[in-house]
Amino acid sequence: MKVLGIETSCDETAAAVVDDALHVHSTVIESSIDQHRDFGGVVPELAGRAHVATIGPVVREALEGAGLDPTHPAIDAVAVTSGPGLIGSLLVGLSAAKTYALAWGIPFVGVNHLEGHLFAPLLEQRDLEWPLLTLLVSGGHSLIVLQEGPGHHQVLGETIDDAAGEAYDKVARWLGLGYPGGPEIDRLAQGGNPDALALPVSMIGDDFDFSFSGLKTAVVRATQKYPDVAIGDVAASFQAALGEQLLRKLRRALERYDVRGVALAGGVAANSHLRILVRALADEFGVVAHLPSLAMCTDNAAMIGAAGLYRFAHDGASALSLSARPNWQLVDVA
Ligand code: KG4
Ligand code: ZN
Repeated sequence: MKVLGIETSCDETAAAVVDDALHVHSTVIESSIDQHRDFGGVVPELAGRAHVATIGPVVREALEGAGLDPTHPAIDAVAVTSGPGLIGSLLVGLSAAKTYALAWGIPFVGVNHLEGHLFAPLLEQRDLEWPLLTLLVSGGHSLIVLQEGPGHHQVLGETIDDAAGEAYDKVARWLGLGYPGGPEIDRLAQGGNPDALALPVSMIGDDFDFSFSGLKTAVVRATQKYPDVAIGDVAASFQAALGEQLLRKLRRALERYDVRGVALAGGVAANSHLRILVRALADEFGVVAHLPSLAMCTDNAAMIGAAGLYRFAHDGASALSLSARPNWQLVDVA
């Protein structure tokens, strides 16, 4: 079985062809990020307009890249992100997916974007051993998830305020860096001193939840008090404090649950410091570290196709009346 995956929940217009052996035949990603940089964040209106202009060409390219005829492709279903995300962006992908499904006479299935991220490591390593603890950290979400197997997940904890990537982006903005801020802070932190600023590691309570907004405020206060601290040292201190919080919660989860591996997912999973920390933690507990390639960490449609294959096999097709769910939580996924 082959699916066309479509992802338009934020600023990436993406399409991919994936089969039920989780082989990725093609994957295409167009980002409108350049249009948002000057605004310091994604502008929903611009993102929606960009999706409308890009979705057709991106789908065509994905189909041709998989060696398929774009007018009559040998595709068995269309999988599309139906939430969570920006409503105007989700609607473009969802409408396109329904139209393709109708035109080609095949079923379509709505996919939760976060569940899509959980499938990303599987696309690079099909023989994953379960159960798995996954740290899903992106611009919009921060969760620790216990996965008993593909599609079987339990949310152990999540952020009570900002997402980890959001904290990166806000601190970067405060430091006068570009958007998105994560990659830039990651780069600046390379030569910086992580002990230059004493920053709090918030949320040391006995649960699996995160909180990053206090850390962001602490960076603002510390840099106001010590304006001469080099920017690389600020970046390294912030990155170390944020990484320490993520690691403490992950360590607690590893102590509590007997798992075979730890996986990273979401845009912040591209962070070089976090990857080093998680690999070392996995070694310490004698479990496998699954660190997806950078392309598989960030938003893409192959992961949506993979999650869609699973959902289609277990829950069947979605109704053509399916609407977008901008706030669809992972805990509410069947
Ligand atoms: O998953 P993603 O591509 O989009 C969603 O939010 O769904 O994640 C984007 C986030 C941004 O906040 C960006 O600053 C962050 O991931 N990010 C990073 C790095 N690369 C991207 N954060 C820290 N270090 C990085 N190297
Ligand atoms: Zn995402």
